[in-house]
This record gives sequence, C-alpha cells and structure tokens, in this order.
Amino acid sequence: MTKRKPLIAGNWKMHKTGPEAVETARKLAGLTADVDRVDVMIAPPFTALAQVAEVLRGTRIMLCAQNMHWEPRGAFTGEISAEMLLAAGCTHVILGHSERRQFFGETDQTVNLKLRAALAAGLKPVVCIGESESERDEGKTFSVLDKQVQNGLKGLLSDDLKGLTLAYEPVWAIGTGKTASSQQAQEVHAYLRDQLAKAYGRSVAEAVRILYGGSVKPANIAELMAMEDVDGALVGGASLEAETFNQLVHYQN
Ligand code: PGA
Repeated sequence: MTKRKPLIAGNWKMHKTGPEAVETARKLAGLTADVDRVDVMIAPPFTALAQVAEVLRGTRIMLCAQNMHWEPRGAFTGEISAEMLLAAGCTHVILGHSERRQFFGETDQTVNLKLRAALAAGLKPVVCIGESESERDEGKTFSVLDKQVQNGLKGLLSDDLKGLTLAYEPVWAIGTGKTASSQQAQEVHAYLRDQLAKAYGRSVAEAVRILYGGSVKPANIAELMAMEDVDGALVGGASLEAETFNQLVHYQN
C-alpha cells in the first residue's frame, strides 16, 4: 500500500487579525507538538502571515497562503506574488478555492496561471476543485471535475506533480454542515487519482495527496480519513479554534 502521509490543513479564510492569528497559532503549536504521523498546516490571512511565521519557526506546522497573483511583480494593486509569500515564510498556497471562483472571478485559466507561477517560484500549490449542488444533482460531478483538472493543470509535467496537493471540496458541503459521506469522498478521490494516473502515470498519481474539504469536523474526520484515497482534510470553520483543530489533527487517537 502506498499510503501518503496525511495532511490536515486549516483555511482561516477572512478570519483573525495578526494578533488573533498569532494567539491561535501559538496554542496550536503547543497542542500539536507531539504529532509526527500527520502533517499540519494553517492558512491565515495575508496580513497575519509574517507574524504567524515567527510563531511557527521551529515547529512542524507549515504556513500556507490563501491565494496569490501569477505575475512576479508589477502594477497590480491589491495583489500578492509568490515571491512575497515565500519571503513571508509560506511554503504552500491555496489556489482556486470555490469562494474565489464564486465571488472573485477565479477560473480554471487563472488557476492554471497561478499554479505555474507558484511551481516556478518554489511554492507548493494546493489546488481546490469541486462541483456545485446542482451539478451533482444533474449527474455532472465527474465532467465538472475533469474540466477543472484538465484546464487547471494544463501544461504541467509529471515532475511538477511532486509538489502538488489537490483538494476535493464539493461546493455544497463548504460551510453548510453537510459533509460528503466517506463513500462519496472516496469515489471522487479514487476517480481523480485514476485521471491523474492516465495523464501522468500511476506512480506519480499515487504520490499526490488528495485532501477532502467541506464541513470536516471532529465527529466525521476519522471516517473520512479511513478511506484509501482520502489523504487529508482542508478545514475551514473547525480550524479556527486551536482546541477543535487539534482534535482533527489527532483524529487517529
Ligand atoms: P468548511 O470550509 O470546513 O468551513 O466547510 C472548508 C473550506 O472552504 O476549505
């Protein structure tokens, strides 16, 4: 069995000022100091990244940004480059989150530009994909995911996939309290891995971590993580309190 090391990642979205993020990160670092079988990552807002990076120094918790621009610099008011994120202490960046697609005009094409720029800069991308409720109801889940993967990952070489994490986040499950069942998640994750295997080869596909996201909480994480192709979780609401997030990180206990 080629099980990948689990990754539990917290997406703090537009929550927490710098000092609030520092406080939560400090608590989390203390609570998770014993953890080595699971990778842990947090994605605070941009304004908290540098301060949180200081807190995480010497801990095992990795620092992730929630978005970036694809250009390295220039007249792009309000945007942040990969280089800036690296300098702030990030190793990872979330790309194509459904909230960015829904509210900020993110498309598979912009995800692709950002993905290539992140990889070129040495920042590890966490690419989010997922179908809406109506797409699932209409039986379009797999075709929607195919399009997101094919267009989002366009031009990537097998080697590029080494740094890539995929996050399957059904839009209907995000922040709604409705989680995909572990069987629904496994079905999609196995499908995604098969598609990656067809495009890049089985051994490359076996190494890619595929996270599940959408209303993950202490009550459902163990069941999701027991699935063969679920390699971790991208957690919004339940990652905001250090104690709750720590329970997710300790899902094996
Ligand atoms: P949620 O968010 O855990 O609050 O559903 C998940 C996400 O958006 O990554």
